[in-house]
Amino acid sequence: MLTPMDRTLEYVHGYSEKEASRLRDQADTLATLLHQDTRYPAGATVLEAGCGVGAQTVYLAQNSPGAHITSVDISPESLAKARATIRQAGLQNVQFLPADLFNLPFSKASFDHVFVCFVLEHLKTPADALARLREVLKPGGTLTVIEGDHGSAYFHPETEAARETVRCMIEVQARLGGNSLIGRQLYPLLESAGFSRPQVSPRMVYVDGSKPAWIEGFTRNTFIAMVEGVAKQALEMQLISQARWRQGIAELKRSAETGGIFCYTFFKALAIQS
Ligand SMILES: C[S@@+](CC[C@H](N)C(=O)[O-])C[C@H]1O[C@@H](n2cnc3c(N)ncnc32)[C@H](O)[C@@H]1O
Repeated sequence: MLTPMDRTLEYVHGYSEKEASRLRDQADTLATLLHQDTRYPAGATVLEAGCGVGAQTVYLAQNSPGAHITSVDISPESLAKARATIRQAGLQNVQFLPADLFNLPFSKASFDHVFVCFVLEHLKTPADALARLREVLKPGGTLTVIEGDHGSAYFHPETEAARETVRCMIEVQARLGGNSLIGRQLYPLLESAGFSRPQVSPRMVYVDGSKPAWIEGFTRNTFIAMVEGVAKQALEMQLISQARWRQGIAELKRSAETGGIFCYTFFKALAIQS
């Protein structure tokens, strides 16, 4: 039998304050793109699995003020940050619990809705996780899943060294047992977890010089920060030389400078428990 740690890999981006800040930047910049069509009715019970530092929780709670949200994460440190964030935002419709999503402390059919964002890519057995989440959903309840796909990133100017740094990030996560190309696989994953006819919608981010907030919030502080965050592991795994890494990062940063362009696609899926 698999233990929780067999299923959850070492979280590739770590639990530092810098990573917490990256997750908040990511959520704040992407809030409209990813949350605009998620509203839960008053009285609905919602499970957020893998809430991290609460970066998405704030939007869930604000957008569905009458819903009762239960947010769980395996990291007590992240939960402490999430609690503080929700308290500071003055929101009162969220309760936090430490829990492993493979071994949830809830009975079957406990929730009307489940929300999971940027978690499956870090799991060794994402289809198994989806099957566990399906169990706690009531019949007719919905599962919303949002994932990125690092293979969807393209940019201008684009150089081979810059692409190598992105490939290093994909490879580091794969060697740790995760899958940062998971966005494109949501439909078959949901089907294999027992959901019929899930609906998947790609959400593209396009950033040019006319969007300074996106250059800062997404290109620099979300994507490039994430690539820079795996430097140590990429070098330790000898995926790239230090000189080539430095060159690649410098060239990747040109996509956030004058004349630069950055494109990335997120995938959002909605599936019904039937
Ligand atoms: C990239 S963070 C995303 C956090 C949040 N959903 C967001 O979008 O900002 C992934 C989170 O999944 C959590 N996680 C990983 N494996 C888990 C498991 N088996 N059970 C519960 N949480 C888990 C990690 O602790 C981490 O907080």
